[in-house]
Amino acid sequence: MSPAQGGFEQWLQDTVERTGAVLDELLPPIEDAGPARLHEAMRYAVLGPGKRVRAALVHAAGEASHMPGVAAGAQELALDGAAAAVELIHAYSLIHDDLPCMDNDDMRRGRPTVHRQFDDEALAMLAGDALQPLAFDCLAQMPIAPALIVQAVQLLARAAGSDGMVGGQAIDCASVGQPLPIEALQRMHRMKTGALLEASVLLGGVVAGASSTVRTGLETYASAMGLAFQVVDDILDVTADSATLGKTAGKDAAQGKPTYVSIMGLDGSRELLLNLREAAHGALLPLGPSACRLRELADYIIGRTH
Ligand code: IPE
Ligand code: IPE
Ligand code: MG
Ligand code: MG
Ligand code: MG
Repeated sequence: MSPAQGGFEQWLQDTVERTGAVLDELLPPIEDAGPARLHEAMRYAVLGPGKRVRAALVHAAGEASHMPGVAAGAQELALDGAAAAVELIHAYSLIHDDLPCMDNDDMRRGRPTVHRQFDDEALAMLAGDALQPLAFDCLAQMPIAPALIVQAVQLLARAAGSDGMVGGQAIDCASVGQPLPIEALQRMHRMKTGALLEASVLLGGVVAGASSTVRTGLETYASAMGLAFQVVDDILDVTADSATLGKTAGKDAAQGKPTYVSIMGLDGSRELLLNLREAAHGALLPLGPSACRLRELADYIIGRTH
């Protein structure tokens, strides 16, 4: 996508559509010969109406990092691949998060969750399992230098694994009914949600060959937005309704989950968000106008209503 042309809403909509098309192409077709129901469940989970925030972060960070002289076409394709890869890992995390053994949710993205739609928990689990290797396959196909692919694979693997998303989910499951100290809550949020958002920003930088100055700015920005994203999710669980969210509202309190709202209250959580927004914007100052989409995404993430 060309740098910073047109309004943010149009840019975001273009990114959503573009990512959907890449994912559609990448996912296995539903054919009688293959494990058709598995492929159908994978497609159902991934192609549902997600906000594609992680994909947008990849592209926005790519725009902010663009190295003059690098073939724009190949770089765009690589950013598409990285964006699709994080959305695949994210979709897998949502399928598993919704299973009865975890959050036991019936609704996701305004539709029945995968295990409900297919009335088959094992199928849902396997659909999530299959999306994970597909994400790494997708990174491996990026038309960039092999050394950059290795960096990208390592970044995503670490963000998704036991020191990142899966580790955070394990802490989340073990923390039900416990009022965590704020440091432990922050760690859990940074792992279960922040890690993948951070990886999205950093992947955009890796793929687009970000300089070390740009990488430093991206890291600080990504750290602030990663935490902010889950704080907003905690707030919306209390303040929004299920129809707007496309998932069941009020689940955190009902299930005794420790959240920013349960520990800092709504006002404290909102104040934290203002600080995180300021940190994110401050980190982008050295990057200049090319970071405009990242700036706008920070405001979108913090101001979102679903
Ligand atoms: C929901 O993520 C799960 C969290 C990590 C909080 P999103 O709010 O990005 O979900 P979609 O992709 O838009 O459905
Ligand atoms: C989900 O956190 C984090 C991951 C899926 C990794 P939540 O459990 O709060 O997400 P929602 O509210 O179900 O989307
Ligand atoms: Mg959860
Ligand atoms: Mg959940
Ligand atoms: Mg939530």
